[in-house]
Amino acid sequence: MKPIVEIKDLSFSYNNGNSVLNGINLQVGEGESLAILGMNGSGKSTLLKIIDGLIFPQKGEVIVFEKTISEKCLEEKEFRFMFRKEVALLFQNSEYQLLCENVKEELSFTLFQLGAKVSEIEKRVNEVASFFEIDNLLDKSPHNLSEGEKKRIAFASLLPQNPSLLLLDEPTSHLDPKNVKFIKNLIMKLNESGKTIVFATHELELAKEIAKRVIVIGKDHSIKREGSPLQILEDAHFLEEENLI
Ligand SMILES: Nc1ncnc2c1ncn2[C@@H]1O[C@H](COP(=O)(O)OP(=O)(O)OP(=O)(O)O)[C@@H](O)[C@H]1O
Ligand SMILES: [Mg+2]
Repeated sequence: MKPIVEIKDLSFSYNNGNSVLNGINLQVGEGESLAILGMNGSGKSTLLKIIDGLIFPQKGEVIVFEKTISEKCLEEKEFRFMFRKEVALLFQNSEYQLLCENVKEELSFTLFQLGAKVSEIEKRVNEVASFFEIDNLLDKSPHNLSEGEKKRIAFASLLPQNPSLLLLDEPTSHLDPKNVKFIKNLIMKLNESGKTIVFATHELELAKEIAKRVIVIGKDHSIKREGSPLQILEDAHFLEEENLI
């Protein structure tokens, strides 16, 4: 399997403080579905933001689509366009993701930034809105929605540009059981259609059902375990030690 993401000896700290990620080595193959588990504060969201090129490690290397991600390479227009089209991050906190005046603009935002034609934007936004059954929310301000609605809108807004790598931070948080099922089925379908999925979650059931591989980031901010969901999720003693049950 060709790696789409390759992380080599990555360490990261915010504002020169304590390490939040420590000596991370990881490869994600094309079409894989990888779950990142770990207690609160272990560094899961930070890792997803680094893969998305929003923040950059002090040490080590992150290679996405065969290119080392840096502020400089994201300044190159051609690469930035390709990267922003192909890689989509669902934020843990939807407030940081939903910045437009209304939901329709939110869904149109990335395609608009990528210079797509208005007719294409309309078509894709309507397709996604109808799939998510959010047509009735299109004119609303994202800030006046419920937390669960925000999460669904934030997820829907990743799809119009048809990205091939989805980074999903707590994709089912705030959702009611029916919407959890909807998002779970959607992630599985996206993965079956060839998209690469990397997601952080506290829901062990979600990892068990939709991940082909699991990593656990430990208290020391390094990868403590890596393996199949079955291998990792059956070890109750280990899960307890890492605050996962
Ligand atoms: N912008 C920031 N500035 C400074 N420190 C931060 C910032 N964001 C996160 N941190 C710190 O980095 C550490 C890792 O945070 P991160 O959000 O990556 O953890 P997480 O594993 O996603 O946790 P959770 O399960 O609560 O979502 C935490 O100790 C947190 O306090
Ligand atoms: Mg997090």
